[in-house]
Order: sequence, then structure tokens, then C-alpha cells
Amino acid sequence: MKYDFDRFVDRHNTASAKWDGIQNVFGVNEDDIIPMWVADMDFLSPPEVIKAIEKRAKHGIFGYSLRPNSFYNAVIDWMKKRHDWEIKKEWITVTPGVVSGLSMAILSYTHPGDEVIVQPPVYFPFFTVVKNNERRLVYNPLKLENGHYSMDFEDLKSKFTPRTKMLILCSPQNPTGRVWSRNELKKLGEICLEHNTLIISDEIHSDLVYKKSKHIPIASISDEFAQNTVTFIAPSKTFNVAGLSTSIAIIPNSKLFNSFSRIIEKLEVGLGNIFGTVATEAAYKYGEEWLEEVLIYLEGNLKFLKAFLEEKLPQVKVIEPEGTYLVWLDFRELGLNEHSLRDFLLKVAKVALINGATFGPGGEGFQRINIATPRSVLRKALERIEKAVKKLKTGGKA
Ligand SMILES: Cc1ncc(COP(=O)(O)O)c(C=O)c1O
Repeated sequence: MKYDFDRFVDRHNTASAKWDGIQNVFGVNEDDIIPMWVADMDFLSPPEVIKAIEKRAKHGIFGYSLRPNSFYNAVIDWMKKRHDWEIKKEWITVTPGVVSGLSMAILSYTHPGDEVIVQPPVYFPFFTVVKNNERRLVYNPLKLENGHYSMDFEDLKSKFTPRTKMLILCSPQNPTGRVWSRNELKKLGEICLEHNTLIISDEIHSDLVYKKSKHIPIASISDEFAQNTVTFIAPSKTFNVAGLSTSIAIIPNSKLFNSFSRIIEKLEVGLGNIFGTVATEAAYKYGEEWLEEVLIYLEGNLKFLKAFLEEKLPQVKVIEPEGTYLVWLDFRELGLNEHSLRDFLLKVAKVALINGATFGPGGEGFQRINIATPRSVLRKALERIEKAVKKLKTGGKA
């Protein structure tokens, strides 16, 4: 391997939400806790990205900036090369983040009181962007059968009303790690077209897909789908640059593009962050080799996690992810209620995961762990959980 993902880079005191934010969020001293919660990686970004930022920083003037053609070309080439989707410059617009983009999409395409469908367990800001904008949240829960999640199309069909305007899709799915198949996406797209419901497809994890699976942008399936979809992508998860606040919306339908652009104008968030622009361009132009290696490392971490739990902690079941560096763990066999499980992991095991119920209905008894960290850190976290579970079984005497 060319890149050393085993190397531990101390992130304490770098204003890292993941490493320095534990005290605030969990109310415990962060020095004792291994953070496996926030979805960023503990790996250095590709060297080309770091170099591009350094080069721009050395110039020393950081005034208002434009996005050059080379930025758009890098995005277009990446989508073609990695996802077989030919997109055009006039479909692309930039937002400060995917979540802020989701909120802008809600403002662009729906009115207060309209219904927005989400598919829990799912990334929890999907709930807040709907509720904070005074829209109504409608759940179409995923089905869990034999350790495998799938969409419940029959339930979905029963959920549409004249007020249903939008469905927010998570593809690949956080927290279950599903990479939706062409058939599943086709079915979903057709149902939404039938019911005049716009699809907002959050594809932020699309580059982080394991070997056996292939991510398909739902809008790439047909022109009809493209006209009914707003897709969000970003370099943030892929290349570990979430702090640079640069995400991309792809909107082939010009009417939809124009109303989204109006919201960007109204909010005055059209001008980008210089470092986000140069990092995005460098990542998409030069980051592919790094990405291939990080995927191999992550797959190795996943294998390690599965083997560890199977051998030492068989009560905790892994929902096998097809993509993302997030793993959905089933702790239900421990028989702890939501509050006790959270407390147990935090205070006894001293690892910070995300409580399943945070992801909505169906999440109870689960925890989400982030495995994008050196294997030594992952091992230490798992050993702590193993030891804590042993203690639990012996009534605290181990
Ligand atoms: C599905 C999904 N969407 C969006 C985000 C965050 O996007 P941003 O930081 O660009 O708002 C995350 C981060 O974990 C995510 O998992």
C-alpha cells in the first residue's frame, strides 16, 4: 500500500467535532473515550488535496472567489468515471453542505404543511430538516429480514396523500450500509413518478462502496428519473474534507434547477469557500488511487470487526454493510433498554457510538459505529466493549 492508514494521527485539540466534542455532547470527559460516532475519517486526506490547499494558502490573499471551469470539469469527469453518469455543467450547483442542501431543497419544492417521506432507520438530520421547515414527516420504515434491510414498497404506496411532495432517499444508506440495487431504485423511482413525488437523493456516501456492490445514481437510470430527482454528492466523506463545507447538487431539470438557485440567492450562500473549491477539484482529479486504497483498508477493518465480534462477542450482530464506513450493530441480545445501553457503552466500555433510536423507528437496540480509523483504534474499542460485556454478564465482577 502506498498510503499508511495504520498511522495514528492525534486529532485532539484540533477543534474536531468527533474528538473534541465529546464532553459537550455526551457530558463525559473526552480523554477517556474512544470516539466512533461522527462520520469522518481519522486518516489524512490524499496528499494532492493537502498540497492544493497549501499552495492556495501560500498565495496569502483569500478574497471572494469564483469556481473555475476546471472545478466543474473535475466533478463531471468524476461522475462519468466512477458512476457512469454523464452530467452537464448547467446541472451543477454548490451548497455549503449536503444537509443545508436538503433544507434548501425543502424550501425550493415544498410548502409548510406538505408531507416529506423518509425511510428510517436513517441519518437523523433528514428528520430535522423536514420538521424545522414546518413540513410533515412521513415514515416509510425499512424492513429488516434475516439481517438484511430492504425497502417496503407496499407500505410506501399506502403513504401518499395529496400533500405528499417529496421523498428523501439515502443512497447508499446510513446507517444500514445498504447500496440499493438497480431494481430497487427503479421500483422506487417509478412509484414516486406515479405519485408526483420528487426524489431528493442524498448520495454523499456513493464513492464508499465495497467490492461486491456498485452504486447507481438513481437519476442516471432514465431521463424521466433524472427530471424528477435532485442528487447531492460531495467530496467530504470520500476524501475526508467535511470541514471544508463544499457539496454539490446535480439538478438536470432546468425548472427545478432554477427554483433551487433562487433559494441559494435568497440565502446568499452562492459564493464558495476557496479551500473547499481547490480541495474538491484536486480530490476528484487526483484522489482516485488514494480512494481505492482507503476502500481496501476499510474492507479490512470490516473483516476484522466481523471476525472479532463473531469470536468474542457473538451477542452483538453485524448488519453487513455494502458501502459506507459506518456499521450498524445489533445489541438487542444484551437485553438493555435504550438508555442503559447508551450509558453502558459510554461509561463502562468508554466508547462513543451513536444510539440506534436516534435514527428513528426501527433503530432501538442498535448502535452505529464508524470504522474509518486505524485498526489499532478499532481493536482497542472492540476490546473495551468485549470487556464491558463480560462485566455485565458477571454482574460487574470481571
Ligand atoms: C447521509 C448523509 N448525508 C449528509 C451528511 C452530512 O453532510 P454535510 O456535512 O455535507 O451536511 C452525512 C454525514 O454523516 C450523511 O451520512
